[in-house]
Amino acid sequence: MSRLLRIKPMSMLTQEAGEVGTHTLKRSLGALNLITLGIGAIIGAGIFVLTGQAAALHAGPAVSLSFVLAGITCAFAGLCYAEFASIIPIAGSAYTYGYATLGEFVAWIIGWDLGLEYGFGAATVAAGWSGYFNSLLQQLHIYFPPRLTATPGTVLIFFHERWLPLTSLPPGAETAGLPHVRALFNLLAILAILAVTTVLVIGIKESANLNTAIVFVKLSVVGIFIVLGGWFLFQHPALASANWHPFIPPADGHGNFGWHGIATGAASIFFAYIGFDAVSTAAQEAKNPQKDMPLGILGSLVICTILYIVVSTILTGLVNYHSLNVADPVALGIDATGVSWGSLLVKIGAVFGLGTVMLVMLLGQSRVFFSMSRDGLLPKWASAIHPKFRTPWISTIAVGAVVAILPAFLSVGRLAELVNIGTLLAFTIVCAGVWVLRVRHPDLHRPFKTPFVPLVPILGIITAVYLMCNLPRITWMVMIGWLLVGLVIYFSYSIRHSKVQKLENAAEGD
Ligand code: ALA
Repeated sequence: MSRLLRIKPMSMLTQEAGEVGTHTLKRSLGALNLITLGIGAIIGAGIFVLTGQAAALHAGPAVSLSFVLAGITCAFAGLCYAEFASIIPIAGSAYTYGYATLGEFVAWIIGWDLGLEYGFGAATVAAGWSGYFNSLLQQLHIYFPPRLTATPGTVLIFFHERWLPLTSLPPGAETAGLPHVRALFNLLAILAILAVTTVLVIGIKESANLNTAIVFVKLSVVGIFIVLGGWFLFQHPALASANWHPFIPPADGHGNFGWHGIATGAASIFFAYIGFDAVSTAAQEAKNPQKDMPLGILGSLVICTILYIVVSTILTGLVNYHSLNVADPVALGIDATGVSWGSLLVKIGAVFGLGTVMLVMLLGQSRVFFSMSRDGLLPKWASAIHPKFRTPWISTIAVGAVVAILPAFLSVGRLAELVNIGTLLAFTIVCAGVWVLRVRHPDLHRPFKTPFVPLVPILGIITAVYLMCNLPRITWMVMIGWLLVGLVIYFSYSIRHSKVQKLENAAEGD
């Protein structure tokens, strides 16, 4: 039992953080790079795709309150992440923090669970990306074979010169006699993941610069949406007031709408916030991690929270929430303003913007495996660094290959729920970890301190568990299944190869 609770000593972590040389990652990221890395990971399929679904199916115009609720949960966790990232500036994120505080077994659980966040997260965004990309192509009258653009079995109808999922058509639309096909799998999403994987293998510096450029494109698109949409609503107050009333639609008796719907909506759009923690996975590539990691994590979170609340309020003012369950709701919103170039711009922005999210997610996933492998919990090849590019290329390719398969067969909504539950579990453990570390090592140098400990970690745990409880049963079952597979790997491989175990066994033998 005590073997499972073995903690990675702080001295070992500090030594790893200080390592230099060709076998280590390159320290090339400054504060601005980290904030843009955060925004690059955060603004994505959540706001561009899931907001529409959450408004239409769960919360109505009150989806903006769902964003407030999810944002509060993330703020508590973000403060805890920032403290850890400043103390332990090592690649690996929550996994590394868990190892230093709660022991190897919990660390393994988080590391494995982060696969649900980053790996499945990249897959979710790829599915959302393919929706916008295909919509953009069709607007330009380019038709990718429709059978290869959606999850298996989705019925696509050729409606108004576009192939659209039957479920996204407006109520009462006349479809008799229109051509239709049944999708085989989503090839577009596979191609997206493979392209991003290639960029990541070539190098972090190149990836970070590309990311910074695209984040500015993405922010501009969001900014233009806010200005055009806001101005339109200002000129058409009757439309806004009709669409915003009732702001909280009455409960439907199935957990949707009403106050409960706001919580269900928050559990589903929580995905929109995921990514600020991915900043912490790049700690070993930061030039000045102690100062810049908290800035990167909290700065990107604050900027995105404000944008989300504003965008979701404007979107539900422009289009009635009943009509928002489509693959490209933000483009639909801008169409409502009558600005003809608006939806083209939104689609281009989403295509590039969602690309950076995949990039950071896949970066995070390969770095977590890198750290686990350096600790002996995964085979050595997972931490092999490419001699020329100095990136963990084998783990990047392995992760990319597996992740590419997921969005080919699973829908955005289903994938997002899995990501949400995995991430909320990681948040819970990180919040607990900050508290434990304060008790065990009160005198540790903390360049950034989470305020009001233990209140903030406790509130972080309560809000995260509350959102988890609002996710469907099937999501819980898949998460438990995923963790069971992790346990089998831990007890059959990791526990016997762990470096910390070996060191401690050697020390006991002396
Ligand atoms: N927050 C990211 C997104 O919405 C994961 O795509």
